[in-house]
This record gives sequence, structure tokens and C-alpha cells, in this order.
Amino acid sequence: MVEKQLSKIADLTSGGDGPGMNAAIRAVVRVALNQGVKVSGVQRGYEGLLNEEFFEMDHRSVSNIINRGGTILKTARSKEFATPEGKKKAVEILKKQGINCLIVIGGDGSYRGACELFETFGFPTIGLPGTIDNDINGTDETIGCHTAVNTALEAIDKIRDTAHSMERVFVIEVMGNRSGYIATEVALGAGAEEMIIPERKFDFEKMVGEIKEGYRIGKISWMVVTAEGAGKADEIAKTITNMTGLESRFVVLGHIQRGGTPTGRDRILATRLGAAAVDCALKGQFGKAIGVLRDEINIIDLKEATHKEYKHLDEYQRLIGLLT
Ligand code: F6P
Repeated sequence: MVEKQLSKIADLTSGGDGPGMNAAIRAVVRVALNQGVKVSGVQRGYEGLLNEEFFEMDHRSVSNIINRGGTILKTARSKEFATPEGKKKAVEILKKQGINCLIVIGGDGSYRGACELFETFGFPTIGLPGTIDNDINGTDETIGCHTAVNTALEAIDKIRDTAHSMERVFVIEVMGNRSGYIATEVALGAGAEEMIIPERKFDFEKMVGEIKEGYRIGKISWMVVTAEGAGKADEIAKTITNMTGLESRFVVLGHIQRGGTPTGRDRILATRLGAAAVDCALKGQFGKAIGVLRDEINIIDLKEATHKEYKHLDEYQRLIGLLT
């Protein structure tokens, strides 16, 4: 696909930020520069690309960021880029800037954009899975997910104290867009009694029966984790109170899950993926999504990379049932 040798990469972060994105940027920049390839940073995702917010990056541009949450490149969601005209304009700008590969760090929406740049306009792109949602195919984990799950668990551990002391039902809403991955991990890790996720039909009556029976035999608190894509915590808590007469509260964890210091696992994942993206570009492999599967770098076509199915669902659901 590339007519000339790789000389200048551009990298951007797009969509929701996630802890570990900076570690990925750092790896892309340093590995590329060490291989003699220039790097242009694009600020504010695809929106910034369309506004030509490019700047040249050197080794020092990424000093002291491996441990920082957020993204030094900043990120955005772009309406203009979502249109075919926007993508055409993006390619013209990239060419004008002398870029011969664009590395996109983002989630499924960002991947779809990168995929279209490659498939429809023939522009060389590579995707790195940067999203807390873990909803990208071809990788066991996405950058930021591990930290987000830990952040949610830390918060829930605190809520658990009140749930226990005041003998309440708590409904906790976690992020994840249309994916129940975070909710499932968090439910199991927090020792919750129930999880509600978009991937499976939920039997509300059954849960209410179990809560009543639980309190009858001496349980003193009940924790439900719901994925934002499956149900709103306030409505669920209200319904539980109406149907059981028990005092219920809800907490929406929201954006605290997206921030904070990345865990070691996220930093290492991001570093491995960033380096692999540059290797892929150097080999002239484009239109690809980089991931880690069973601890090995795994490369698939971008067009195959969205709509992940979560494999541990049955196991986790069964365990939660057995542990209640
Ligand atoms: O994709 C990451 C994510 O945090 C989702 O879990 C959530 O639905 C969405 O982004 C929230 O986006 P915003 O920060 O634009 O409200």
C-alpha cells in the first residue's frame, strides 16, 4: 500500500481517554524515532487532525508520562470526521503533512474511522486498542480496562462498608458503553450478588425473590452491579425498593473509572502494543489492529476488530451465583 519507505508516522488518541494511553504514545514515539522514523503528534483526535493540529515529537516530548492517566495528545469525538467528506479531508491533510502512516489509539468508533481511511481511501492506518470498555476483537485486553476495573473495585469496597453497616441494597452503575465487560469483572471482584449486563436477558423478578429470601435467612446487604448499557442504577434501585420494601441506594461511578494512574499491567500492555504498532508499520502492514492474545502480540485486520464477544461470561455468572 505504501509507495515510498516509511519516513513519518502520525499518532493520535481518539474517543474516551483511558489510563495507559500515555504509555502507548511514549512507546510509539520512542520506538519510531529509534528506527529513524519521524513522529508527528496530532492533538484532539480526528477533530484536531481536521484542524491541522500537528506537532513534531522528539524523545523528550514523552518524558515522564508513562505513569500518568489521560492523554498528553488530548482527545475528542469528532462529528465532522464521521462524514465521508471529513474522512476525505483528513486524508488530504495527512498527505500534505507528509505522513505515511497514522496510528490511532482509541476504541471501536475510532477503529471504524481508521478502518475507513484504509479501506475506502487507501491511507495506511494502524489501530491500538485504547478504551476502558474492552470491546475490541483480537485482544484479551484493551489499554485502560485493567485500571478502570481496579478503580471501580476500590470505590465499591468503600460503598460495601455502608451497605453492611446500614443493611442496605446498593446498585452500582459502571461504564462500558454497550459492553458488560467492566460490570462482569467488577461484580466478581467486588463480591457482588448480582450483575446486569447488555449481553444477557435479565430476570428482575427472580433477583427480587432472591433478595427477599436472602434477607429472610440473615443476609444483611445486597450488591448489584449494572453496566451502563443494561440499565440505569437509579431506576433499578427504586424498583427494588418498591418490590421488596428494603432500603436501596444507587451510585453511578462514572468518569472516575477513566482517570488515574495506570496500573503496571496497563502500562506494560500499552508499551508492548505501541512498539508492535511501529514494527507493523515498518513491515508495511496497514489496515491492522494490534492486540495481545494469550500473552502474544496478535495482529488482525481493522475491519475484524470491533464487536468483541466476552468469553468468560458463563463462567463468571456461574461463580457469582455460587458465591452468593
Ligand atoms: O468508551 C469509553 C466510555 O467511557 C464508555 O464506557 C462510556 O459510555 C463513554 O465513554 C462516555 O463518554 P463521554 O466521556 O463522552 O461521556
